[in-house]
Amino acid sequence: MPEHEILPPFQGSAVPHVGTYRRVLPVSLERMYENSLDWEHLPHVHSSSFSQIDCEAEGPWGWRAALVSPGGDASVVELRLDRACRRWITRNLSGPAAGAEIWTHAFPIEPRRVDIVVDFFVPGVAAEQRSRLGQAYARLYERLYDEDVAMMLERQRQLDRRIDGVRDNERVVELGVREDLELPLAVTVGGREYVLAQVEDDLVIFPRQCPHQLGPLDGRDLQDGVLRCPWHGYRFDVRTGNCVSGQRCRLSNLPEIRLGRSGEVTLSAAC
Ligand code: FES
Ligand SMILES: [Fe+2]
Repeated sequence: MPEHEILPPFQGSAVPHVGTYRRVLPVSLERMYENSLDWEHLPHVHSSSFSQIDCEAEGPWGWRAALVSPGGDASVVELRLDRACRRWITRNLSGPAAGAEIWTHAFPIEPRRVDIVVDFFVPGVAAEQRSRLGQAYARLYERLYDEDVAMMLERQRQLDRRIDGVRDNERVVELGVREDLELPLAVTVGGREYVLAQVEDDLVIFPRQCPHQLGPLDGRDLQDGVLRCPWHGYRFDVRTGNCVSGQRCRLSNLPEIRLGRSGEVTLSAAC
């Protein structure tokens, strides 16, 4: 980044300002941009604030989506990302908060430390009510960012592992006798992490990282042979690897599970 930079003039919102939330996050600017464009995670990672989302339009510019709150309130929200100004603006186009705008500016301090300044602009609020409303928005954003930071850190950790690799590179792993195994069981085969689990009487195996964006698949959400990723809610049939929630991705490159005569379980990396 250059030492000095001249940005286009700041054109603030025309809507009254009610408060600001500021925080330093231990993530890169790239993770922040990615998170802002990721409308799909809202009802999953932030389930106490959103229960449903239907995207109407999306692109590198941002997205526009119909959202439903857990209380049943419907709204249309648009987010526009402006990388040149390192900011994104969220506008409530309809719904209970229609006209409200949230402007987030991001200031990278280090490669993986970003100072964010989130300004809340809400129309039709009496001057003496603004500060209280601003604090309520700040508390909401505190929680949303707690949830986002956990997701962004885990994604960064998984991306780093892809580059650094996993030390344990055994292509054939003997696990011992099936009855002695505590399932679900995390295992590393051929340098990749998997989870061995049981569905009815069958042993199944799936990757510990979701094929979509590396979300954690630890097996806790495995129900009736269907695994649900906590980040965007994609669901996978662990017997076939197919995504059963309609998206175009699947669980693949799975090790072969072999059972010996005395019930010994051996895993072999896929070729
Ligand atoms: S990371 Fe997106 S559904 Fe798993
Ligand atoms: Fe989020």
